[in-house]
Amino acid sequence: MAKDFIVTPWEVKGEVDYDKLVKQFGTSIISDNLINKIEKHTGKLHYMLRRKIFFSHRDLDILLKEYEQGKKFALYTGRGPSGHTHIGHLIPWIFTKWLQDVFDAPLYFQITDDEKFLCKPNLSKEETNKLGYENALDLIALGFDPKKTFIFVDTDYSKTLYNVAIQIAKKVTASNAKSVFGFTNETNIGMYFWPAMQAAPCFLPSILSGEKIRTLIPAAIDQDPYWRIARDVAPKLGYPKTAAIHCSFLPALTGPSGKMSTSEGEQSTIFTTDDEKTVKNKIMKYAFSGGKDTLEEHRKHGGNPDIDISYQWLRFLEEDDKKLKKIYDDYSSGKLLSGELKQILVNKLNNFLKKHRENKEKAKKQLDKFILKD
Ligand code: TRP
Repeated sequence: MAKDFIVTPWEVKGEVDYDKLVKQFGTSIISDNLINKIEKHTGKLHYMLRRKIFFSHRDLDILLKEYEQGKKFALYTGRGPSGHTHIGHLIPWIFTKWLQDVFDAPLYFQITDDEKFLCKPNLSKEETNKLGYENALDLIALGFDPKKTFIFVDTDYSKTLYNVAIQIAKKVTASNAKSVFGFTNETNIGMYFWPAMQAAPCFLPSILSGEKIRTLIPAAIDQDPYWRIARDVAPKLGYPKTAAIHCSFLPALTGPSGKMSTSEGEQSTIFTTDDEKTVKNKIMKYAFSGGKDTLEEHRKHGGNPDIDISYQWLRFLEEDDKKLKKIYDDYSSGKLLSGELKQILVNKLNNFLKKHRENKEKAKKQLDKFILKD
């Protein structure tokens, strides 16, 4: 039975068929051959590549070839500050940190307070700006290098960004924006222009350095429509086409479909601001279980880790392959019960978040070192 799904930068609904999505979007699956090439440069592969959490790309092969020839590239990713950061947001950032380390690449990080002001009816400009700086602490807490990491909040870097964005906007028609982003006649005109702001940082490293520097964007695949626009206009403006590496979505706690989204309610997400008790309560109460209804049946037939959200989350969070495999096997055989599996995830999250909270506190003093302003 074919189920419908929708993936746009503002909405992910239904059970995503990633193979179909790759065809729809016109991206490429990361082949084993390409994985081997990455491994040649990085040594051990990041678990998110080994597990195909990052599974799709645009021009990563070209970027690597250039890298082999001694050309530098820059990383670019970002965050839309519509609320507190949740675990789903951290997934691509954790991977980005690894890319920064192994390729010694600078990171440009866009915080789109303007976007969230424009598209969220209930958020004020002041609120999205404040959330932007609060969210920046979550990024810094992951250990990014202040010498190589440049964070900018759009409305406080608008002079630079606007000057790039108008060059992009001039080359994109309303009918193009409608078909790529699904805008309608009811969409406000700010949003019609806005994609040019998210495309602008693709060229920022080139503009700031005066050299042609290709960008690589690690991000969830729902952001890809922007890169289509950026890549279309790149040659017209004389910049290298941006490359991208896409990840799948951390599933919502409540069920195996769509991406974790704050708009679906508190119970589908774990925020970095959730305390230990809240984490435990949410996982125990809401994490969709692949276990059997009775203890007897579970012991006899085992659970299904492939649909169990606690297991799926551990796939995104537990670095150790051996530990993960043991959990998979024990759950499938019935040795591990649903409640026990949930407790493993609770411990993993709470250990991580304890350290994260401390790092976030320290990040407050470091913030200035990271911020780009006009
Ligand atoms: N639009 C993104 C969001 O709502 C934020 C963003 C801006 C972004 N630039 C980016 C995300 C580059 C990934 C990569 O979250």
